[in-house]
Amino acid sequence: MELIGVIGGGTMGAGIAAVCAKAGSEVLVLETRQEFAEAAQQRIASSILRGVASGKTTQTDADTAIARVRVTLDIDEFADRDLVIEAAPEIESLKYEIFGKLDKIVKPSGILATNTSSIPVIKVAGATQRPEQVVGVHFFNPVPVMPLVEIVVSLVTSEETVAAVTDYAKNTLRKITVQAGDRAGFIVNALLIPYLCQAVRMLESGYACAEDIDAAMKGGCGYPMGPLTLLDTVGLDVALAAAESLHAEFAEPHYAPPTLLRRMVDAGRLGRKTGRGFYHYN
Ligand code: 3HC
Repeated sequence: MELIGVIGGGTMGAGIAAVCAKAGSEVLVLETRQEFAEAAQQRIASSILRGVASGKTTQTDADTAIARVRVTLDIDEFADRDLVIEAAPEIESLKYEIFGKLDKIVKPSGILATNTSSIPVIKVAGATQRPEQVVGVHFFNPVPVMPLVEIVVSLVTSEETVAAVTDYAKNTLRKITVQAGDRAGFIVNALLIPYLCQAVRMLESGYACAEDIDAAMKGGCGYPMGPLTLLDTVGLDVALAAAESLHAEFAEPHYAPPTLLRRMVDAGRLGRKTGRGFYHYN
């Protein structure tokens, strides 16, 4: 697969675009407004350029990768894409609209993938006339650093589709892949989200402060980040959507989003991307 489309140039979309371009694919990214397009282009370029500073890539290779990415406001340009990876906000109606449009525009052999962490793949597939060519490819934040991609197989995803995206993730992007069924949380979030929610409950109850909760899990368990820093990194809105979908699916109390998480999302304190979450960022 050489021609890749990415829907959305936010944190995840930009990361996905950067790894695909670094791996040699031509990448087209869809944004909704000119200022978002410029910000996305900037985000992708700075992600690719990070490798130059650490000596992992040369300036020439980085420039070549950056030149492989183009951001557009026109979804009609996605007609020739071999694989389109949707990384739009976690709003069900928005995803259905995007998949409905992509289905009409993208060539019949094109695979449509979603990076959703909270919406069933089969529901997204239902917005298309090619449900067997719709699959989940779930990346992790920060995409250029985290080696894993979860391949999420709906009840109707074809074996050919699974084989093609697994091959691309493994052999082109050089990621580790695991396969999961189409149930809320897949593998990682089903285990991670209750832990993150529990850390918020601990803070909310006044049992320990944010710094100590994070220091405890880093120093005591060897995690690279504490749970509240990780929530700020993945985005509190993303974590809330994942917790809500887990709770809706399994109705188990440990999946219920803590009130503080909801109120912080209501307040627009979404973490790093808005400059404020459990911590302050410049
Ligand atoms: N883009 C590109 N590269 C990045 C990056 C980014 N956003 N963030 C860090 N890096 C690179 C750095 O450039 C550096 O590369 P180098 O070795 O070539 O210099 C390397 O990663 C390490 O970065 P730092 O030295 O700055 O920082 P740390 O050593 O503290 O590591 C971390 C940062 C890799 C983010 C580490 O803290 C970590 O692994 N944290 C846990 C992240 C995690 O658990 N992610 C999963 C979240 S769950 C999810 O995404 C699912 C969703 O559905 C909720």
